[in-house]
Amino acid sequence: MTRTWWKKGVVYQIYPRSFMDSNGDGVGDLAGIAGKADYIASLGVDIVWLNPVYRSPNKDNGYDISDYEGIMEEFGTMADLDRLVAALHERGIRVIMDLVVNHSSDQHPWFLESRSSKASPKRDWYIWKPARAGGPPNNWKACFTGSAWELDPGSGEYYLHLFDPSQPDFNWENPELRKAVYAMMRRWFERGIDGFRMDVATLFSKDPSYRDLTPAEGMFSSTAPYVYGPRLHEFIREMRREALDGFDAMTVGEAPGSTVENALELVGEGRGELDMLFQFELMGIDHVNGDKWRQRPIEVPEMKSIVERWQLGLAGRAWNSNYLMNHDQPRSVSRFGDAALYRNESAKALLLLNLSLGGTPYIYQGEELGMANVAFDSISDYRDVDTLNYHKEALAAGVPEAEAMRSIHYMSRDNARTPMQWSAGRNAGFTEGLPWIGVNPDCAKVNAEAEEADGASVLHFTRAMTAFRRKHPSLVYGSFELLAREDTRLFAFLRVGEGESLLVEINMSSETIRSEAPSRAATTLISSLGPALPVGTPAPGTLAPWEARVSALS
Ligand code: GLC
Ligand code: CA
Repeated sequence: MTRTWWKKGVVYQIYPRSFMDSNGDGVGDLAGIAGKADYIASLGVDIVWLNPVYRSPNKDNGYDISDYEGIMEEFGTMADLDRLVAALHERGIRVIMDLVVNHSSDQHPWFLESRSSKASPKRDWYIWKPARAGGPPNNWKACFTGSAWELDPGSGEYYLHLFDPSQPDFNWENPELRKAVYAMMRRWFERGIDGFRMDVATLFSKDPSYRDLTPAEGMFSSTAPYVYGPRLHEFIREMRREALDGFDAMTVGEAPGSTVENALELVGEGRGELDMLFQFELMGIDHVNGDKWRQRPIEVPEMKSIVERWQLGLAGRAWNSNYLMNHDQPRSVSRFGDAALYRNESAKALLLLNLSLGGTPYIYQGEELGMANVAFDSISDYRDVDTLNYHKEALAAGVPEAEAMRSIHYMSRDNARTPMQWSAGRNAGFTEGLPWIGVNPDCAKVNAEAEEADGASVLHFTRAMTAFRRKHPSLVYGSFELLAREDTRLFAFLRVGEGESLLVEINMSSETIRSEAPSRAATTLISSLGPALPVGTPAPGTLAPWEARVSALS
């Protein structure tokens, strides 16, 4: 397989609204991020992914874009963006932006024009259908609640929105629309950015039958008529030719509905499509029947088998993207670790896991501090449209308030969106003003300043781990072999290649366990508990709660 900067790189994801506020209006901004460029570089990351910073009415925090080439006023100006990109480039860090082109905002001039009349030249840039039996054209549901179709009283037709009604889906069948998207992408590359994370990239092509979902099909089933639709590969290849070739760009598609099989068709090397994708199998591990608001405990063997399936399934044929959280998911330490009793230990163990797998690792802001879920008492403290809709729907369906809140505390996207915790000071050092969303009260203990001063912190371990990965190319390019498959607490695997054999052992439990994994003599190279044992010392046969280590096999 080819070797590229985005294969060996580590990505740091920044949610600009919640990273750092430079002007006291309570909203994070581009100048705030630029002011933290040294901090970002200190993490040892190679690539920064910025969540959307474009003009937006903010119904879905920037995923509803009204101008793809303008900057959200609250975040600053194009000059601020240029300065931020320059500051990161100076530090050897590439910058990828979010590309949200499955849909736009309903306030985008293209949609306003499309809606204005059936005869508008832009009518066909979005998906308009007549009513069926006096109701919506089919039974598709929107991700955030209700029907995926919204009636436009003006024309009597419905438009499709797979997300919020303020996010109408583009009609990718229209060549003019596609041309406009590609031209916009090229202008961003000419401005100097290094790639795109593509929002819901598997949803661009809709099956022209517009058939109903079957009762067995969930919204993002691989067979749903808008998931990996009939022209998806054709569109992505065209995008590659028209907008990507000629730029040394990285692309990672957010890819609901992916299985190893269909993923290989989208990111297989030599397919001429995308470089990487985000699959959702691990993120669905605690959902009941695909419903994220109904949760079940995580089983470690199931987690291992998902990881193994992707590690082996793409090996030698395509490149993985590994993440344990992002801006749509709960905090990884609260979900996969033990935030109550072993926060630091389990946060480090999870970082070690993520940075030891084959594929490009993504670290989400605050993950390097072990930031945990928040539990606001009142729904009025939540901001996320998805959470607010769920709460309303659940209560209307008779779910007791306490139960709905419990589910929100676990799963709400706002868990990832509370302000970055810089210090124990006012508003965690995020803003001088009133933050747009409350700060997690645990910032008194969990914050960058305190962790800077503590050599045993999650922050220092993150730096040690990125440096370790850089020194051990087998973690990037080596093979993967799962060990101790049935063990319900130990997550162990081998990474072999590039002239070394590494054994990774992670105790995914709050108990001391035995590890039978090292059948051959192993010497510890890095341990989440602190400095590695002196070279030559055999790795002990036990692991403390949430202890994680990488050892060399001779
Ligand atoms: C993706 C984004 C999410 C957004 C949705 C609609 O899933 O990650 O934040 O709400 O797409 O654009
Ligand atoms: Ca601000």
